[in-house]
Amino acid sequence: MKITNIKGMEDLLPERMLRWKEGLEKIENLALSYGYLPIKTPILQRIELFKRVLGEASDIVNKEMYSLTDKGGRELVLKPEETASVARMFNEHNLSFRGLPQRYYYFSSYYRQEKPQKGRLREFHQFGIESIGSSSPFMDVEVITLYYEIIKLFDIDVKIRINSLGCKKCRPLYRKELEIYLRDRKDDLCDDCKRRLETNPLRVLDCKNEKCIRVTADAPKSEDFLCDDCRKHHEAVLESLDELNIPYVKDPKLVRGLDYYNRTIFEGESSKLGAQSAVGGGGRYDYLMEQLEWKPMPAVGFAIGMERLMMASGKEETSLPPIDLFIAAIGKDSIIKGMDLARELRKKGFSVFMDLSDRSLKSQMKQANKKDARFVIIIGDTEISENKVIIKDMANGSQKDIDMDVETISKEMSV
Ligand code: HAM
Repeated sequence: MKITNIKGMEDLLPERMLRWKEGLEKIENLALSYGYLPIKTPILQRIELFKRVLGEASDIVNKEMYSLTDKGGRELVLKPEETASVARMFNEHNLSFRGLPQRYYYFSSYYRQEKPQKGRLREFHQFGIESIGSSSPFMDVEVITLYYEIIKLFDIDVKIRINSLGCKKCRPLYRKELEIYLRDRKDDLCDDCKRRLETNPLRVLDCKNEKCIRVTADAPKSEDFLCDDCRKHHEAVLESLDELNIPYVKDPKLVRGLDYYNRTIFEGESSKLGAQSAVGGGGRYDYLMEQLEWKPMPAVGFAIGMERLMMASGKEETSLPPIDLFIAAIGKDSIIKGMDLARELRKKGFSVFMDLSDRSLKSQMKQANKKDARFVIIIGDTEISENKVIIKDMANGSQKDIDMDVETISKEMSV
């Protein structure tokens, strides 16, 4: 039996990788210009890290983590997300001593054993940022602004939805009120939400089942239960976004699928994506460090799914780049001479391709065409003995003999 790829995990071919590279470069430059610095944490992390912060009742912890036990008996998981690992890294390296806030960005693959469908993979990639150490609403605004600017780089029509989940003080009041409301209507909920009602009633709010959407249409809104501090924070975020002309909509039903959030949460939604429409999301997670038994530290961030971003941009692939020069060499001495010239020409910034299998000139010319080469240089025994090469301009078909010398060749290709 032939071995095939794992369901929900994709091979990324050059056309896609080059598109990602071009996109990532733009995103990273933007993040750097905001003062966010690159970091990377290991793909494998201790299972406890996610169990503690994502919530035992969350879908990820409940059923989606890829876990394994290593030879030392440690229970590990392939990272399902980055925020928890960044919090661990921040504390383990005492990064608060570098001054607060600390701003980081990352790009990596993540793993969730979800049911694969369009836009939902088991191995996917995220670009994300985390700003650690500021509780100011303006930090939420900076994070949402950067999210908005990244989305704009790709000309995507994304609706940013925002809500506030309150804090330790006011959220329990809201949760209670919501629970009472939902219990009265339990029979009208889908089976999943009947279960959610016991574990995390807030998640009923973002259920996509028609029945539940009807039930929650008039459900109590977290905004109406915010304490004074949370209300002021929320208002400051929304007012600042208005003043900075960052478009958003308030969505009282937005709750997010991870349990570590408090106060501001947001999600970007593209109408181009079908059921899996979230092109990134994030929010504040002021209690996460405490949950990991570190010193309390306010923080806020977001992550964008790379596959979905590319899909929403309408351009998932890019055409392969043409090469500057194809060196067609016939015979061992010519191949070595060609390799030597190629090495020097690449140092001058030209992209140079050779077929190293000593095939006929005809088949090498065919390859040069396939590679969309701008110039072809032909080297054979005669050229070696005369220290000349034939250079062919593929745009107009003209060809001539020139000296077999790096300066002469590069001059010829630069006109
Ligand atoms: P998340 O909402 O779970 O948040 O994921 C963020 C984004 O990753 C989603 O909006 C989506 O674009 C992409 N994504 C998630 N799961 C999949 C999947 N199975 N297949 C394809 N794409 C997917 C987080 O991960 C948080 N750590 C974000 C954050 C950072 N919050 C604060 N800081």
